[in-house]
Amino acid sequence: MTGGEIIIEETGERFIQLPTDGSILRAALRAGIGFPYECSSGGCGSCRFRPISGEFVDLAENPGGLSERDKRKGVRLACQSSAIGDVSISVSTRREFVPKHSFARFEANLTQVRDLTSDMREFTFQGPTAAMFIPGQYALIEGPEGMTRCYSMSNLPNNGGEWHFIIKRVAGGHFSNWLFGLEVGESVTIDGPIGLAHVSETSQRDVICIAGGSGLAPIISIARALASEQDTERLIHVFYGGRTPADICGEDYLSGFACWGERLRFHSVVSDEEAAKAAGWSGEIGFVHNSVISRFGDRVRDHEIYFAGPPPMATALQTALMIEMKVPFEQIHFDRFF
Ligand SMILES: Cc1cc2nc3c(=O)[nH]c(=O)nc-3n(C[C@H](O)[C@H](O)[C@H](O)COP(=O)(O)OP(=O)(O)OC[C@H]3O[C@@H](n4cnc5c(N)ncnc54)[C@H](O)[C@@H]3O)c2cc1C
Ligand code: FES
Repeated sequence: MTGGEIIIEETGERFIQLPTDGSILRAALRAGIGFPYECSSGGCGSCRFRPISGEFVDLAENPGGLSERDKRKGVRLACQSSAIGDVSISVSTRREFVPKHSFARFEANLTQVRDLTSDMREFTFQGPTAAMFIPGQYALIEGPEGMTRCYSMSNLPNNGGEWHFIIKRVAGGHFSNWLFGLEVGESVTIDGPIGLAHVSETSQRDVICIAGGSGLAPIISIARALASEQDTERLIHVFYGGRTPADICGEDYLSGFACWGERLRFHSVVSDEEAAKAAGWSGEIGFVHNSVISRFGDRVRDHEIYFAGPPPMATALQTALMIEMKVPFEQIHFDRFF
């Protein structure tokens, strides 16, 4: 049985990992500890820690977030490790990682599904209490045999307890295929909210939101939050990149806002030129990061920028924005969907 008391050597902070907590990271965040993290999926390496004493178990084999050097030094990932009994660890906790809303597990009932494309589906779950999160955040959904994956909310926080997700069915993907088999009326366990790539509560800059493929949900949530703002003239540009015209969706989530076509604009880009021509696509063809840079040029630096999607898209955007265009890091917020 996993679980025990975890002591952080640097600060003396202590917290309990219960068998239901899933990982050391989830136990720490639940206890309100500012444990560093980004993806909760083993991909980014942000939650690395050094074991000092005690026993640990791996939740995944060879997670991409650990280098060979890390493995040789015995470094572990908190999102992919559980304690067996009491342990002590070394990690630098920071206030910015403390969850802003309580991070909690609850049962939620699937009340509605809606297909957006042949492989993208919106799922609506009903939770027991108000759905409190910051637009751009995500939750962990638990499935059979201990499988857990992260999914970003696409709606806005609400007192009615609704959690909306837009999920892409991955060919051969274990979890997404299980989710697409769920019937209305069935329940899942949700653990959330967490995530740091959420809408800024202070910035007043114009905004560029960029989603690729499965990255649509958090971008729609952020755009909805910004489009709901009153007494502002700031512009919100939403870019969505898909492979073919049949993959493009999401515009209808935003077209009902009063500011649609004025301060809120949607740009879609497809990358497969042959498929675009075959479908008679008259819109833009190319990669979404190039589309953003060619439209804004140096003015990209005047914006608050949010993006979400597969790691190759995120890497292309990081290179273009941070290295080539020198956009200040604090204006860029992103989630990589490992
Ligand atoms: C922060 C974040 C937000 C995301 N939001 C969305 C979203 O809004 N919509 C969407 O469609 N997708 C989202 N994803 C991707 C999603 O979590 C899944 O990776 C995706 O649905 C494919 O899962 P799968 O099981 O079908 O595919 P698979 O290919 O079977 O698995 C996907 C990945 O999960 C890894 N994995 C295996 N075991 C574990 C484990 N125990 N814990 C964690 N990972 C494991 C595998 O190594 C593989 O790389 C998000 C990912 C992250 C990190
Ligand atoms: S948060 Fe653990 S590897 Fe990303």
